Amino acid sequence: MATTYHCPQDGTRADVASAPWCCPVCRGPWDLDFTPSRPLSAAALPGRVNSLWRYEEVLPLSSPATTLGEGRTPLVPLTATVSAKLDYLMPTLSFKDRGAVMLAELARRLGPERVVADSSGNAGTSVAAYCARAGLPCTVYVPEGTSPKKTEQIRAHRAELVTVAGDREATALAARAAADAPGTFYASHVFNPYFLHGTKTYVYELWEDLGGRLPDALAVPVGNGTLLLGAALATAELLAQGLIARRPALIAVQAEAVSPLAAAFHAGADDLLDTPAGAAPTLAEGIAITRPPRARAILAAVRESGGTFLTVPEDRIRAAQRELAARGLFVETTGVACWAAVGDRRDADIVVPLCGAGLKTGTAA
Ligand SMILES: Cc1ncc(COP(=O)(O)O)c(C=O)c1O
Repeated sequence: MATTYHCPQDGTRADVASAPWCCPVCRGPWDLDFTPSRPLSAAALPGRVNSLWRYEEVLPLSSPATTLGEGRTPLVPLTATVSAKLDYLMPTLSFKDRGAVMLAELARRLGPERVVADSSGNAGTSVAAYCARAGLPCTVYVPEGTSPKKTEQIRAHRAELVTVAGDREATALAARAAADAPGTFYASHVFNPYFLHGTKTYVYELWEDLGGRLPDALAVPVGNGTLLLGAALATAELLAQGLIARRPALIAVQAEAVSPLAAAFHAGADDLLDTPAGAAPTLAEGIAITRPPRARAILAAVRESGGTFLTVPEDRIRAAQRELAARGLFVETTGVACWAAVGDRRDADIVVPLCGAGLKTGTAA
């Protein structure tokens, strides 16, 4: 097990077993000191467990007691150049299970009195499910207006649900105050880097399924950027292991209504702009994040990959959900954003993640 966190902002280090949930100097998120124990061997993969735990050389935890068989989602061609990875076919019906299983497994080993999480719905659902699996009491903070099916799912896993008035940022602040209480493990998909070592398996699966290569571009929905940063981590590791020759371009997708990172990227900034971008209501609730704490890393990863940021208006999100359903894929409104952004591209091989099941939000009116 990797044992040290470091702060990408100021270099502060802390032991994983006793670290506070954020850097005590700058209050920013941690990164994990981790390099794969040995190169991943494609030849060794066929006989292994059919879940994301098959990539054992490149994961910071092994032999999990909390697994629900997450990972190994199908890759389905949609056009001659665009394929979809069906990450809504996960135990809790969203890609968040990739990271939540890591957090729950870490928490199980550390043995806290309680776990807290905050979420626009899917991460909280996922943490609630994996805490149930791990036998850990769990409280999930969500913003008012979160899709009722997501809150129902959280309650079904016997987590305590706290609905916070205001936006997603207000919810995060409420959870962080609770996370400071002694004996609490903050299962934050944003601040805890183990989550990113889970989401990176999205790219390892693509690499395996495509016979040891990656597509030209990966479109990724970005709110707090956990799938995007996981993808960047995996491509960096695959390059370092000599398993790919070049990075795929990361095409980061935000809703036009809430697009602080796209605004910063196109302004040439390396962090969020000082003037806060406006936030209008959006169907893409999962990516409606106004101040993502890992903004600097997200912007750097997209630039380093040669990629870009795209934004999608609400009518495209609505239409994209209908288009995918007409092709047999019922996806939640956040999960259709990438298809909305790049579904008509013919100039490159692109994989879009369909990240959450349609039944979680229903059809957009
Ligand atoms: C379906 C779906 N897609 C994408 C995202 C965005 O993930 P992130 O905030 O880590 O960028 C979320 C987050 O909740 C989500 O629920």
